[in-house]
Amino acid sequence: MATNSWWIHQVILTLLFLSWRDYVHCSGLTVDPPEDLVILDPGHLGELDITWKPPASLISVTECSTLYQLEYFNTYRNDWTAIRTSRRSYTAQFDLMKDIRVRVYTLLSGPCTNGSMIKSTNYIELVQKPPSTGIVDTAVQDFVCLFHNMDYMECNWGRSSKMPANSQHTLYIWHKELSEAVECPKYIISGGVRSGCNFTGNILPDFIDIIFCVNGSSDEGPLKPTFTSLQIQNQVKPGTTEKLHLQTGPDRQLEIQWEHPVGRIPGLCLEWEVEHNEEGPDGKITSKQFFTKQTSLTLPSIHDKWRNCFRVRSKVNKYCAAKGFWSEWSRPACHTGNEVTAEAEWDMVPAYLYITTAILAILVLSLCVWAMLKVRGSRQDKKPDSLLTSLFARNSVLTVADA
Ligand SMILES: *[C@@H]1O[C@H](CO)[C@@H](O)[C@H](O)[C@H]1NC(C)=O
Ligand SMILES: *[C@@H]1O[C@H](CO)[C@@H](O)[C@H](O)[C@H]1NC(C)=O
Ligand SMILES: *[C@@H]1O[C@H](CO)[C@@H](O)[C@H](O)[C@H]1NC(C)=O
Repeated sequence: MATNSWWIHQVILTLLFLSWRDYVHCSGLTVDPPEDLVILDPGHLGELDITWKPPASLISVTECSTLYQLEYFNTYRNDWTAIRTSRRSYTAQFDLMKDIRVRVYTLLSGPCTNGSMIKSTNYIELVQKPPSTGIVDTAVQDFVCLFHNMDYMECNWGRSSKMPANSQHTLYIWHKELSEAVECPKYIISGGVRSGCNFTGNILPDFIDIIFCVNGSSDEGPLKPTFTSLQIQNQVKPGTTEKLHLQTGPDRQLEIQWEHPVGRIPGLCLEWEVEHNEEGPDGKITSKQFFTKQTSLTLPSIHDKWRNCFRVRSKVNKYCAAKGFWSEWSRPACHTGNEVTAEAEWDMVPAYLYITTAILAILVLSLCVWAMLKVRGSRQDKKPDSLLTSLFARNSVLTVADA
């Protein structure tokens, strides 16, 4: 709305300026708006050809050059766009589900106007309502395309709750390098219905508008189409960071290092968010975020005794694309300070104790068994073996006696 009023303001100013110039030149010369404004749809998902003819009154004027000022409501940007051209046609992209509004003025300049430019006070206008095709409330919702790690593009949509029986969606795309709209190469099926499209391997061109149309059919007739325009470099979602290293430096510094996701995204195009979760002795977790363009971060001084966990995610920065999507978070990497490490050493002591106890227990058990056998054996045949056996024998007798 603000841009609209700004635009209207500009138009008024321009008109006042032109009137003033007309007044100064006292020319009284006027020019008519163009004629026969026509909009043609070549089937390029909303790329329309606009044509017009010069006003009949201008045919006789030869010593002056004619320009046209075309203004149209850009349905994707929600704003008016104005261009000047000497040609009698122009091609622009529209969302076919919205009103199409086009206006054309005639501009005249040269010796016939004493060098100044005159614009026709009126314009020729064409307003075209969207075709009322499609059952109401059947348009897809939340259409979103992600260019996964610049590897493959995936678009997904949600179904309206009012879908008639046997509805089937179809997706078509068009861009300037295609002679006609093409259908999705591979649909993504979920719950038995089409919920998206996977452009596997088909690399779509970047830095040009790509138009997506999701339409469809059902038992009750065609579904309401949806149009979206985007450029793929703005849809990149980088891969998840796999390698994250933590390293302690001097003075309780902690250095976090990670690697770029493997793929086609240039490293310089990424920015990073690092999340630091610090768990104090009371179990309370404090969370902090850091943003960086580097693939490492040094924290000056951490509480050695606390548990420090980190995870990172990345996004294409503003120098490489107008927008982007955050990657998934990496798996967290944790660092636990001195006391916890000491605790681990302390853990070793009971381990030795356990092993010693176990060995002793086995020994005692074997002695018991041996003693029992010996007692039974001694009843038949008394045969002491050696000093060692007799020593064990005495012990075992004691043990047996104790037990
Ligand atoms: C152009 O200027 C001349 C002299 O300055 C004047 O006589 C003539 O009427 C002007 N013509 C137009 C079309 O303004
Ligand atoms: C889309 O295609 C890519 C590349 O072939 C594949 O890795 C990915 O899993 C596919 N996605 C779905 C949802 O099938
Ligand atoms: C969907 O759009 C495409 C491209 O404009 C068209 O060829 C196709 O017939 C449409 N399908 C339906 C069911 O309307």
